[in-house]
Amino acid sequence: MSLDDSLRADLGAMEKAGTLKTFRHITGPMDTQVTMAEKSGPVLVLSSNNYLGLADHPELVAAGQAALEEFGAGTASVRFICGTFSIHERIEAALAKLSHTEAALTYVSCWTANTGLIPAVAGEGDALVSDELNHASLIDGCRASKARRLVYKHADMADLDAKLDTVKGARRIFVVTDGVFSMEGDIAPLGDIVTVAKKHGASVILDDSHGTGVMGRHGRGTAEHCGVEGKIDIITGTLGKALGGAAGGYVAGSKTLIEYLSQVSRPQLFSNALPATIAASAMKAVEILEREPERVARLHAITKRLREGLKARGFKPLDGESAIVPIIVGDTAFAIRMSKELLGEGIFITGFGYPVVPEGTARLRIQACATLTDAQIDFALASFEKVGKRLGVI
Ligand SMILES: Cc1ncc(COP(=O)(O)O)c(C=O)c1O
Repeated sequence: MSLDDSLRADLGAMEKAGTLKTFRHITGPMDTQVTMAEKSGPVLVLSSNNYLGLADHPELVAAGQAALEEFGAGTASVRFICGTFSIHERIEAALAKLSHTEAALTYVSCWTANTGLIPAVAGEGDALVSDELNHASLIDGCRASKARRLVYKHADMADLDAKLDTVKGARRIFVVTDGVFSMEGDIAPLGDIVTVAKKHGASVILDDSHGTGVMGRHGRGTAEHCGVEGKIDIITGTLGKALGGAAGGYVAGSKTLIEYLSQVSRPQLFSNALPATIAASAMKAVEILEREPERVARLHAITKRLREGLKARGFKPLDGESAIVPIIVGDTAFAIRMSKELLGEGIFITGFGYPVVPEGTARLRIQACATLTDAQIDFALASFEKVGKRLGVI
């Protein structure tokens, strides 16, 4: 069988299982309302990570354009060979301040940050103890490491404690967790994690991709929400969600850690830097976050309204305090059907099924955005009610 025939057979199996994903096509900027190739007229977006509504903010667009003028496309090389732009140093200082750490280092994505960080700091003789529901990039980062790897039950502190007991004597020990779990929308018990990790002499690696800009009164993330700012050893995050939405990621931690990663983290050594345009837009996003804390307050209020509105209409969204509101519908094909019906009503929300989430727990993941208007929220709730009744969900 040729390679293409073999790949086609696999794709056919996915199609048969109802797990084949179809891409939707957005024909303008990401906002609460977009235009799409698949649907005439405006469509309300409820499944973007554009939590603060900054993806098409005029100041972010202008900052990106100005950086293109100032720096051109890039240095056409990796940082240690052809230098680093001043905008990288500025965004790294801003991200360190936001994260309550001494320093930060940017990567082209949080995926690259996680997979560039973990194997660099954890090797033979070390141990990684990781939450079972961690994001795929943390999982792949752990898999790429030569350290001993253990998985603890989701947010289960007794199990974390027990797993840490079994790695006594390891040179470096890390507890690895998401801040906000992306498919459940629940929050890691960071206060307890810090306590348990400390008891075992372990360092905490926190991926706060869905927490930064969202959690805490100032949007500084899950550490702010849990009252442990300054107590997390290593924080990773993305610039591709609340902080702009293009791409980009970072690791924040001690000066020593950042210096070490600059020396040995493979994506730093063998891959180009974050584009200057994105660094400049993200810099503006951090400035707006600091300048307009009311955005975060509005995001929290909107999430609450969405969750309560859904409950009042008979849906059973998972409880939580993040901006992620999942509704479990069970079957993958059904989740895809519901998503299609909602698109028919003018709502863009993706259905997630196996293998992204465990079999039988397919879901629609609603994500709030700080710039949703009251009228848009009313429209969303009315559309959910209409589709929910039509499909017999409520
Ligand atoms: C928790 C978490 N970590 C990392 C990433 C990867 O982020 P990026 O798009 O910057 O690679 C994501 C994106 O989905 C995420 O949800």
